[in-house]
Amino acid sequence: MQETRLGQDIVHTGVPGLDELLGGGVPRGTTIILEGNPGTGKTTLGIQFLLEGARQYGESGIYITFEELPEQIYRDMSGFGWDLRELERQNKLRIICLEPDVLLDQMMRTDGLFEQLIREIDCKRVVIDSISLFRTLGGLQTDGREQIYSVRNIMRKFNLTAFFLREYGEWEGRSTPFENYVCDGIIRLSLREHMERFRKRTIEILKMRGTCIVEGEHHYRFLSDGICILPALSMVEDKIVSDGVARLSTGIQSLDDLLFGGLPQGSAFMLDSNSKANYKYLMTSIYAERIKEGDCVVFMLSGLSSVETLEQSLELFGASLREAALEERVFFIDHYHRQVAPEYEKSVIYVDRLSNGEYQKKVYEAINPYFRESVVEGRRWFIHYDLNTVLSERGREYVKRHFADEMARCRAAGVTVLCQSNFTEIGLETSSFLERASNGVIRTWVDGSYQYLQITKSPGGRMSAPHIVENIRDRPYVRLI
Ligand SMILES: Nc1ncnc2c1ncn2[C@@H]1O[C@H](COP(=O)(O)OP(=O)(O)OP(=O)(O)O)[C@@H](O)[C@H]1O
Ligand SMILES: [Mg+2]
Repeated sequence: MQETRLGQDIVHTGVPGLDELLGGGVPRGTTIILEGNPGTGKTTLGIQFLLEGARQYGESGIYITFEELPEQIYRDMSGFGWDLRELERQNKLRIICLEPDVLLDQMMRTDGLFEQLIREIDCKRVVIDSISLFRTLGGLQTDGREQIYSVRNIMRKFNLTAFFLREYGEWEGRSTPFENYVCDGIIRLSLREHMERFRKRTIEILKMRGTCIVEGEHHYRFLSDGICILPALSMVEDKIVSDGVARLSTGIQSLDDLLFGGLPQGSAFMLDSNSKANYKYLMTSIYAERIKEGDCVVFMLSGLSSVETLEQSLELFGASLREAALEERVFFIDHYHRQVAPEYEKSVIYVDRLSNGEYQKKVYEAINPYFRESVVEGRRWFIHYDLNTVLSERGREYVKRHFADEMARCRAAGVTVLCQSNFTEIGLETSSFLERASNGVIRTWVDGSYQYLQITKSPGGRMSAPHIVENIRDRPYVRLI
């Protein structure tokens, strides 16, 4: 039984990693161009599509080659341990070598050789290696469009899922070839420079009708048993990881999706942003959620954010800081000794002009009694840690000596921490140490006219693709696209 997607009959390629990029597979009856330079693996991937079809899905296939003799293919593919002759004996595969015009002729005839062959083995998959030769038919003036169009129509007529192989670059510089329009998908294999001395093989899906694809270039490798594709950033969208830890919503649905539901309770996440990026909405949305959920929140104030500005921005997100203060579940660590409204007086821990030792002691003593009590009540704790402030007020050495330790203690106590930082300003050495000491990193930056956001580290070891941060009119005022 094939899976269906919105009522579609889906054909799984069976090539490791490829179906994941294709949202499960390709719709049955589609024609896909598989292009690449010589040696990129077109033949291998084409054969693998037929082989896996036969082995895993009980679907027979035909490989039509204009350029290589079957013998050559048997020999080349035996390198992967594939016994194609045996599949032919079982009527699961046919490898045929003929001239393009002969193929066309046989295809066009009712009950021609092609139709007979299809019936004979109940063929479902076809690979044509390659369509480039169609261009030589019909004289120099044509681009083979009539021929390619006819072949595509025949594939559709018999509901065959087909790969048309094509040399990449043969049409470079000219206008987009006709077949790009008439075929349903285009997959490109490339061999690129990589880290100066190396090369990397990448696969990219440029077009695929009726399928939700994973964008971008993905590595592929030749393994001893065929091609294996390694989807980049092992995407999160359609996978739900439930590791038993509660997830704290960020208040931004699209960000929660990237985080499998939110920040894992007890984790330490970095929010790394460059100075141009607007991270305020992201942060405020996260804290507003915590306050609305009834959690205890500790805010480390910076030179720019005071209790007052915090109150105002949280108000925008529908969270009342004042109420939370009256309920004794918010605390502020202030290095700048600013006056606050009377309701907040008990909540502020002033740490200006304190040595590092005194600072640690004061914060601990101020929070600890509440912490013990609230944990008994089942309250969750969330800490906003402003790394730039700690670095400038407590010094780099303090951060290096205590940060990992502080995070580990929070983790053990089930306290979730969000550290705001600017890795570029902090410098490579310290920032890579900070990155190591945290469970996850959310990076947001401005490039040109867009702000981007990407999860570059997460507890499960996954990254997300970079998303564009778009401002919207209503709460939570941002969304990721
Ligand atoms: N175990 C292996 N067996 C066979 N080929 C391998 C193996 N490992 C890597 N390769 C590489 O695979 C390439 C062959 O790939 P393939 O013939 O599928 O490419 P192609 O794109 O069809 O090339 P062409 O345009 O020349 O037809 C060879 O260049 C070879 O370097
Ligand atoms: Mg080839």
